[in-house]
Amino acid sequence: MHLIVKFSFLALARVASTAALTVPYLPPAHAANVDPAALSISLEFFAFPGYTQLNSTTNCLDYIDSVRGVSPAVRIGGTTQDRATYDPDLKTAVDYSVDDPADAPSALTYGPAFFTLASQLKGDVTVGLNRQLNNISNSLTAALQAKASMPNLLSIELGNEPDLYSQSSPIVPAGATWSPSVDGTSQKQWFSDMGTTVGNIFQGAVYLSYPKWSTQGLIPILSNAISYVKTFSGHSYPQSACGGATTDLPSLMNHSAIVTYTSQYKPEAAAAHDAGKKYFLGETNSATCGGGGISPTFGAALWVMDYVLQGVLNGVDRLYFHQGTIGNCQYCFWGQYTVGAPFYGAAFVSDFLGRDGEKLVMLDDGSGSIGLYAIYNAANAPTRLLIYNSGYYNGTGTRHSTGISATREVRAKRLTAPNATSRVDQGANVTIGGAIFDGICQLSGSQITESIEVVGGSLSASVAMSEALIIYL
Ligand SMILES: *[C@@H]1O[C@H](CO)[C@@H](O)[C@H](O)[C@H]1NC(C)=O
Ligand SMILES: *[C@@H]1O[C@H](CO)[C@@H](O)[C@H](O)[C@H]1NC(C)=O
Ligand SMILES: *[C@@H]1O[C@H](CO)[C@@H](O)[C@H](O)[C@H]1NC(C)=O
Ligand SMILES: *[C@@H]1O[C@H](CO)[C@@H](O)[C@H](O)[C@H]1NC(C)=O
Ligand SMILES: *[C@@H]1O[C@H](CO)[C@@H](O)[C@H](O)[C@H]1NC(C)=O
Ligand SMILES: *[C@@H]1O[C@H](CO)[C@@H](O)[C@H](O)[C@H]1NC(C)=O
Repeated sequence: MHLIVKFSFLALARVASTAALTVPYLPPAHAANVDPAALSISLEFFAFPGYTQLNSTTNCLDYIDSVRGVSPAVRIGGTTQDRATYDPDLKTAVDYSVDDPADAPSALTYGPAFFTLASQLKGDVTVGLNRQLNNISNSLTAALQAKASMPNLLSIELGNEPDLYSQSSPIVPAGATWSPSVDGTSQKQWFSDMGTTVGNIFQGAVYLSYPKWSTQGLIPILSNAISYVKTFSGHSYPQSACGGATTDLPSLMNHSAIVTYTSQYKPEAAAAHDAGKKYFLGETNSATCGGGGISPTFGAALWVMDYVLQGVLNGVDRLYFHQGTIGNCQYCFWGQYTVGAPFYGAAFVSDFLGRDGEKLVMLDDGSGSIGLYAIYNAANAPTRLLIYNSGYYNGTGTRHSTGISATREVRAKRLTAPNATSRVDQGANVTIGGAIFDGICQLSGSQITESIEVVGGSLSASVAMSEALIIYL
């Protein structure tokens, strides 16, 4: 009953070696549990009402829902949550002005309609409220309105990335130097003060600067006030595009580098789980400050795919991919006119996790360029494999492949593009099973699957550098 899929690294290593891989018949003890909304979405606070006007928002979320059986969770927050003031009399969802539509506002107000829009999202919703301006009565009024109008409300954040607050922020107590312990005491105070009326609903931590600022460090400071916390969140960006910093695509999409990078969050997830709480990468994407030139590429799609799987393996219950200013966002999955390459990684990994995916294992050792994963259903049967050839192919040189044969015929679906630097917004087609998403995130044409079988011991399918394949068992 063991299904054997053989991998040859012939073309990569130029050595005629063939590794035989046995997919475990049952999930091993170390297999990771997969949250139904493992791939989720973060929407920048001020831009959220604008996102609800885009057909792509509904269609992209619905596509993930169609392959997973559950709508992605949405977290509404970001830098602008700490610039926002709630106005219960405001007639529109949000009110602000900017000189340039590409800018984020430096101050804004929002009203009850903001939460009405949020209540219409199909999945769990987390709302990020302001702590930085130190107006607890204002945030409490907003929290109570969120609770009253949103049956889908999962949790409420109080402050975004407080590790980045300036020493002159209103929340910083007079005479104190802002630090993890001062912030931890502030989080504890706010949870305790608001929890008595709002309930045990808060998302704690929400830090970016790991490991100096961490869930592990916050938990002992919260002490008994941890009862008000429902979930913990950390933010994660493997690269920075702030202030013109250089980004690097080969290292972003490098499988062993993704394995190493993501493993840093394992103790964070373990600390939250030990306290009986979920742990999320509550805001994440390829590079800070809206993304760099690498962020809209096909290589970033491959990163999204591999990074979600590594997050799950390290105990991260959900990864919320951040979507920033509409029309000025390199890493966004979708915009007004196109669905970007990164969404294809999100769609493909969701396809792999599927409606029945319960337990995930990595079958490679994490040190090479080929990532191999198996997903198991509730009956403990392996249902799909994913093969990621993370070798960097940018269009020059030879696109080597790794070959595959199986002991019985299996079907496969391919994620590919001309090369790792390909961008949908520059006219390239990224495809899943040969099909593309149109400008409003509807699958255009039907996806095809390929057949893989044993052909006299020779290879009958291959996965090229900068490409991935799902095998349906
Ligand atoms: C967007 O969705 C709305 C409402 O469903 C629909 O009326 C409109 O035609 C759609 N726009 C496009 C470009 O499909
Ligand atoms: C805090 O918000 C309330 C409205 O909720 C407002 O009346 C009050 O002026 C604000 N306080 C400060 C210090 O801004
Ligand atoms: C991938 O990263 C590893 C270190 O994590 C490095 O040894 C290897 O050379 C990298 N591969 C590529 C193609 O950049
Ligand atoms: C592609 O990558 C190779 C190294 O793998 C590099 O020498 C070459 O300059 C790159 N080409 C482009 C167009 O970026
Ligand atoms: C990579 O693919 C894009 C199309 O997506 C193409 O424009 C570009 O020329 C390719 N790069 C190279 C070096 O061939
Ligand atoms: C992209 O796909 C569309 C629809 O399948 C096709 O019409 C178009 O020619 C393709 N573009 C490229 C550059 O291959």
